Amino acid sequence: LTSLPLLGRGKVRDNYAVGDDRILMVTTDRISAFDVVMGEPIPGKGELLTRLSLFWFDRLGPRGANLCPIHLTGEDPESVVAPQEREQVRGRSMLVKRLQPIPVEAVVRGYLAGSGWKEYQQTQAVCGVPLPPGLRNASRLPRPIFTPAAKAAVGEHDENITFDAMAARIGGALAERIRDVSIRLYEAASAYAATRGILIADTKFEFGLDADGTLTLMDEVLTPDSSRYWPAESYAEGANPPSFDKQYLRDWLETAQVDGRPWNKQPPPPKLPA
Ligand code: C5P
Repeated sequence: LTSLPLLGRGKVRDNYAVGDDRILMVTTDRISAFDVVMGEPIPGKGELLTRLSLFWFDRLGPRGANLCPIHLTGEDPESVVAPQEREQVRGRSMLVKRLQPIPVEAVVRGYLAGSGWKEYQQTQAVCGVPLPPGLRNASRLPRPIFTPAAKAAVGEHDENITFDAMAARIGGALAERIRDVSIRLYEAASAYAATRGILIADTKFEFGLDADGTLTLMDEVLTPDSSRYWPAESYAEGANPPSFDKQYLRDWLETAQVDGRPWNKQPPPPKLPA
């Protein structure tokens, strides 16, 4: 896009400034896991992710269950780009409020997978939340747990942190509010998904504060890039479930070798050109 100033490129999304209080978030077809952005895009991925986010914003936000204010301004994203660029953003963009992002990933888990399963095997807890003994890979948890993560140094994985460490970073009251809202969002979404044959094993939310200091749900929400989507019909405790998300890419990155090193231990990718 040339009709708006580029604010920055994430691994999957490109952000453009719309005045000083809004952002046009364009979801590309790029796919990434850990800190690797794959060279080959997946056609249609950006549109699919956008549709899923919009679906959940509608269902969980002020027009639906009203669990949390959301970052969408409600305007048509195509209205802020030049006419010849509308096609480029169609179906894959959101016009959102510019927020002050909270530097913590709000992860909720209903099942034990990924880093949760790894941590449990070592400590019988995840992010300091104690869990009963005897759980297995993919076990359903007695109740959903909140397991925050913090952005680590560039090129490193995000690291799981305890709730107390999160509270020390952003303040106890805000941390509690984020934990409560995240669990309620997860419960509402996973209850709905279950009626459609999908188990949402876990997911990650991101929040920001608006100009009035209101806690606002931002970024993508409950997509298969930020969640594990398991088909209920093939769910089996103890096994690695098939996953309608990018788990296959994580698994591949963790085992594939390039130049004698695992993919996820490669030097960080070069910065994308503007
Ligand atoms: O890898 P881990 O088990 O910690 O991930 C838990 C959940 O949080 C998964 O659904 C994953 O997609 C999501 N997540 C994410 N972005 C991160 C870390 C985790 O969307 N940076």
